[in-house]
Amino acid sequence: MAYYWFKAFHLIGVVVWFAGLFYMVRLFVYHAEAAQEPEPAQTILKNQYEIMEKRLYNIITTPGMVVTVVMAIGLLTTEPEVLKDGWLQIKLAFVAALLVYHFYCGRIMRRLATGQCNWSGQQFRALNEAPTLLLVAIVLLAVFKNNLPTDITAWGMIGMVFVMAVTIHLYAKKRKRDKEILAASQAKDDELTEQLST
Ligand code: HEM
Repeated sequence: MAYYWFKAFHLIGVVVWFAGLFYMVRLFVYHAEAAQEPEPAQTILKNQYEIMEKRLYNIITTPGMVVTVVMAIGLLTTEPEVLKDGWLQIKLAFVAALLVYHFYCGRIMRRLATGQCNWSGQQFRALNEAPTLLLVAIVLLAVFKNNLPTDITAWGMIGMVFVMAVTIHLYAKKRKRDKEILAASQAKDDELTEQLST
Protein backbone atom coordinates (compact mmCIF):
# COMPACT_ATOMS: atom_id res chain seq x y z
CA MET A 1 0.00 0.00 0.00
CA ALA A 2 2.89 2.41 0.84
CA TYR A 3 4.11 1.98 -2.74
CA TYR A 4 0.83 3.37 -4.12
CA TRP A 5 0.91 6.33 -1.74
CA PHE A 6 4.46 7.14 -2.84
CA LYS A 7 3.47 6.78 -6.50
CA ALA A 8 0.39 9.01 -6.11
CA PHE A 9 2.40 11.80 -4.47
CA HIS A 10 5.27 11.24 -6.90
CA LEU A 11 2.84 12.06 -9.73
CA ILE A 12 1.34 15.04 -7.84
CA GLY A 13 4.89 16.35 -7.37
CA VAL A 14 5.62 15.91 -11.10
CA VAL A 15 2.50 17.92 -12.07
CA VAL A 16 3.38 20.78 -9.67
CA TRP A 17 7.07 20.76 -10.68
CA PHE A 18 6.30 20.97 -14.41
CA ALA A 19 3.61 23.61 -13.98
CA GLY A 20 6.30 25.70 -12.25
CA LEU A 21 9.04 24.97 -14.79
CA PHE A 22 6.84 25.86 -17.78
CA TYR A 23 5.51 29.07 -16.23
CA MET A 24 8.98 30.18 -14.99
CA VAL A 25 10.36 30.43 -18.53
CA ARG A 26 7.15 32.09 -19.81
CA LEU A 27 7.77 34.78 -17.16
CA PHE A 28 11.39 35.04 -18.37
CA VAL A 29 10.01 35.76 -21.89
CA TYR A 30 7.81 38.59 -20.55
CA HIS A 31 10.66 39.83 -18.33
CA ALA A 32 13.10 39.99 -21.28
CA GLU A 33 10.52 41.66 -23.56
CA ALA A 34 9.75 44.30 -20.90
CA ALA A 35 13.09 45.86 -21.93
CA GLN A 36 11.35 47.10 -25.12
CA GLU A 37 8.83 49.16 -23.12
CA PRO A 38 9.36 52.86 -22.39
CA GLU A 39 10.03 54.06 -18.83
CA PRO A 40 8.48 53.97 -16.24
CA ALA A 41 6.53 50.93 -17.55
CA GLN A 42 9.80 49.01 -18.05
CA THR A 43 10.93 49.28 -14.41
CA ILE A 44 7.44 48.56 -13.05
CA LEU A 45 7.08 45.45 -15.24
CA LYS A 46 10.57 44.16 -14.48
CA ASN A 47 10.03 44.54 -10.71
CA GLN A 48 6.68 42.76 -10.96
CA TYR A 49 8.12 39.83 -12.98
CA GLU A 50 11.03 39.57 -10.53
CA ILE A 51 8.58 39.12 -7.62
CA MET A 52 6.42 36.63 -9.58
CA GLU A 53 9.46 34.55 -10.64
CA LYS A 54 10.85 34.42 -7.07
CA ARG A 55 7.50 33.31 -5.63
CA LEU A 56 6.88 30.77 -8.38
CA TYR A 57 10.37 29.27 -7.99
CA ASN A 58 10.40 29.15 -4.19
CA ILE A 59 6.74 28.34 -3.44
CA ILE A 60 5.73 26.08 -6.37
CA THR A 61 8.59 24.83 -8.56
CA THR A 62 11.19 23.84 -5.96
CA PRO A 63 8.67 22.24 -3.55
CA GLY A 64 7.24 20.30 -6.57
CA MET A 65 10.75 19.06 -7.35
CA VAL A 66 11.38 18.10 -3.70
CA VAL A 67 8.07 16.17 -3.44
CA THR A 68 8.82 14.31 -6.74
CA VAL A 69 12.32 13.29 -5.61
CA VAL A 70 11.37 12.42 -1.99
CA MET A 71 8.43 10.28 -3.17
CA ALA A 72 10.69 8.63 -5.78
CA ILE A 73 13.13 7.74 -2.98
CA GLY A 74 10.12 6.28 -1.10
CA LEU A 75 9.27 4.17 -4.18
CA LEU A 76 12.85 2.95 -4.47
CA THR A 77 13.17 2.03 -0.79
CA THR A 78 9.85 0.13 -0.91
CA GLU A 79 10.88 -1.79 -4.05
CA PRO A 80 14.69 -1.50 -4.41
CA GLU A 81 14.92 -4.23 -7.09
CA VAL A 82 13.42 -1.75 -9.62
CA LEU A 83 16.81 0.01 -9.59
CA LYS A 84 18.24 -2.84 -11.67
CA ASP A 85 15.81 -2.08 -14.53
CA GLY A 86 17.30 -0.47 -17.63
CA TRP A 87 14.33 1.86 -18.17
CA LEU A 88 14.78 3.37 -14.69
CA GLN A 89 18.49 3.94 -15.22
CA ILE A 90 17.79 5.79 -18.50
CA LYS A 91 14.96 7.69 -16.78
CA LEU A 92 17.36 8.75 -14.01
CA ALA A 93 19.74 10.19 -16.63
CA PHE A 94 16.86 12.32 -18.01
CA VAL A 95 15.85 13.31 -14.45
CA ALA A 96 19.45 14.43 -13.81
CA ALA A 97 19.17 16.66 -16.93
CA LEU A 98 15.87 17.99 -15.59
CA LEU A 99 17.46 18.85 -12.23
CA VAL A 100 20.26 20.72 -14.05
CA TYR A 101 17.56 22.62 -15.98
CA HIS A 102 15.71 23.42 -12.73
CA PHE A 103 18.78 24.95 -11.06
CA TYR A 104 19.76 26.70 -14.30
CA CYS A 105 16.34 28.42 -14.26
CA GLY A 106 17.12 29.55 -10.69
CA ARG A 107 20.40 31.02 -11.94
CA ILE A 108 18.68 32.83 -14.84
CA MET A 109 16.12 34.24 -12.37
CA ARG A 110 18.89 35.69 -10.18
CA ARG A 111 20.75 37.10 -13.20
CA LEU A 112 17.57 38.73 -14.58
CA ALA A 113 17.02 40.35 -11.17
CA THR A 114 20.50 41.92 -11.25
CA GLY A 115 20.25 42.90 -14.95
CA GLN A 116 23.05 40.48 -15.92
CA CYS A 117 21.02 38.32 -18.31
CA ASN A 118 20.88 39.48 -21.93
CA TRP A 119 18.80 36.65 -23.38
CA SER A 120 16.02 37.64 -25.80
CA GLY A 121 12.39 36.54 -25.51
CA GLN A 122 12.99 34.29 -28.53
CA GLN A 123 15.89 32.51 -26.79
CA PHE A 124 13.73 31.90 -23.71
CA ARG A 125 10.99 30.49 -25.95
CA ALA A 126 13.50 28.02 -27.37
CA LEU A 127 14.70 27.12 -23.86
CA ASN A 128 11.11 26.22 -22.92
CA GLU A 129 11.24 23.30 -25.39
CA ALA A 130 13.78 21.42 -23.24
CA PRO A 131 11.43 20.42 -20.37
CA THR A 132 8.77 19.37 -22.91
CA LEU A 133 11.17 16.91 -24.52
CA LEU A 134 12.33 15.64 -21.12
CA LEU A 135 8.73 15.26 -19.92
CA VAL A 136 7.77 13.18 -22.97
CA ALA A 137 10.89 10.97 -22.69
CA ILE A 138 10.52 10.40 -18.92
CA VAL A 139 6.77 9.66 -19.01
CA LEU A 140 7.16 7.24 -21.95
CA LEU A 141 9.93 5.40 -20.09
CA ALA A 142 7.93 5.32 -16.83
CA VAL A 143 4.84 3.95 -18.59
CA PHE A 144 6.30 1.55 -21.20
CA LYS A 145 9.41 0.68 -19.16
CA ASN A 146 11.68 -1.75 -21.09
CA ASN A 147 9.10 -2.20 -23.87
CA LEU A 148 9.19 1.20 -25.59
CA PRO A 149 6.94 0.74 -28.65
CA THR A 150 8.36 1.21 -32.15
CA ASP A 151 5.22 0.28 -34.10
CA ILE A 152 3.12 2.47 -36.41
CA THR A 153 1.05 3.87 -33.47
CA ALA A 154 4.24 5.05 -31.77
CA TRP A 155 5.49 6.80 -34.92
CA GLY A 156 2.00 8.28 -35.41
CA MET A 157 2.09 9.71 -31.88
CA ILE A 158 5.62 11.12 -32.39
CA GLY A 159 4.45 12.67 -35.70
CA MET A 160 1.43 14.22 -33.98
CA VAL A 161 3.54 15.74 -31.20
CA PHE A 162 5.94 17.11 -33.85
CA VAL A 163 3.09 18.66 -35.89
CA MET A 164 1.66 20.22 -32.70
CA ALA A 165 5.05 21.70 -31.76
CA VAL A 166 5.56 23.15 -35.27
CA THR A 167 2.00 24.61 -35.29
CA ILE A 168 2.53 26.30 -31.90
CA HIS A 169 5.87 27.66 -33.12
CA LEU A 170 4.36 29.05 -36.36
CA TYR A 171 1.43 30.58 -34.47
CA ALA A 172 3.83 32.32 -32.03
CA LYS A 173 5.80 33.65 -35.03
CA LYS A 174 2.60 34.94 -36.70
CA ARG A 175 1.51 36.70 -33.48
CA LYS A 176 4.91 38.36 -33.20
CA ARG A 177 4.77 39.52 -36.84
CA ASP A 178 1.20 40.87 -36.39
CA LYS A 179 2.34 42.77 -33.30
CA GLU A 180 5.25 44.30 -35.22
CA ILE A 181 2.98 45.32 -38.13
CA LEU A 182 0.50 46.90 -35.68
CA ALA A 183 3.29 48.80 -33.89
CA ALA A 184 4.66 50.05 -37.24
CA SER A 185 1.23 51.25 -38.43
CA GLN A 186 0.60 52.94 -35.07
CA ALA A 187 3.95 54.74 -35.34
CA LYS A 188 2.98 55.89 -38.88
CA ASP A 189 -0.41 57.14 -37.60
CA ASP A 190 1.30 59.07 -34.77
CA GLU A 191 3.74 60.62 -37.26
CA LEU A 192 0.89 61.66 -39.57
CA THR A 193 -1.12 63.16 -36.68
CA GLU A 194 1.95 65.13 -35.59
CA GLN A 195 2.51 66.44 -39.14
CA LEU A 196 -1.14 67.48 -39.46
CA SER A 197 -1.13 69.30 -36.15
CA THR A 198 1.97 71.41 -37.06
C1 HEM B 1 13.92 11.51 -8.82
C2 HEM B 1 13.93 10.71 -9.83
C3 HEM B 1 12.84 9.70 -10.09
C4 HEM B 1 12.83 8.39 -9.70
C5 HEM B 1 13.88 7.64 -8.89
C6 HEM B 1 11.57 7.83 -10.16
C7 HEM B 1 11.15 6.53 -9.93
C8 HEM B 1 9.92 6.04 -10.22
C9 HEM B 1 9.42 4.72 -9.87
C10 HEM B 1 10.22 3.67 -9.13
C11 HEM B 1 8.16 4.62 -10.34
C12 HEM B 1 7.22 3.44 -10.18
C13 HEM B 1 7.20 2.61 -11.41
C14 HEM B 1 6.08 1.58 -11.36
O1 HEM B 1 5.67 1.17 -10.29
O2 HEM B 1 5.58 1.21 -12.42
C15 HEM B 1 7.83 5.86 -10.98
C16 HEM B 1 6.62 6.13 -11.58
C17 HEM B 1 6.40 7.19 -12.39
N1 HEM B 1 7.24 8.25 -12.60
FE1 HEM B 1 9.04 8.52 -11.69
N2 HEM B 1 10.88 8.79 -10.84
C18 HEM B 1 11.61 9.95 -10.82
C19 HEM B 1 11.26 11.14 -11.43
C20 HEM B 1 10.18 11.29 -12.29
C21 HEM B 1 9.91 12.45 -13.09
C22 HEM B 1 10.76 13.71 -13.10
C23 HEM B 1 8.78 12.19 -13.82
C24 HEM B 1 8.06 13.04 -14.83
C25 HEM B 1 8.65 13.86 -15.64
C26 HEM B 1 8.32 10.87 -13.46
C27 HEM B 1 7.20 10.27 -13.98
C28 HEM B 1 6.67 9.10 -13.51
C29 HEM B 1 5.40 8.53 -13.94
C30 HEM B 1 4.43 9.15 -14.97
C31 HEM B 1 5.22 7.35 -13.22
C32 HEM B 1 3.99 6.41 -13.28
C33 HEM B 1 4.27 5.24 -14.19
C34 HEM B 1 3.18 4.18 -14.09
O3 HEM B 1 2.66 3.93 -13.01
O4 HEM B 1 2.87 3.59 -15.12
N3 HEM B 1 9.21 10.35 -12.54
N4 HEM B 1 8.92 6.71 -10.90
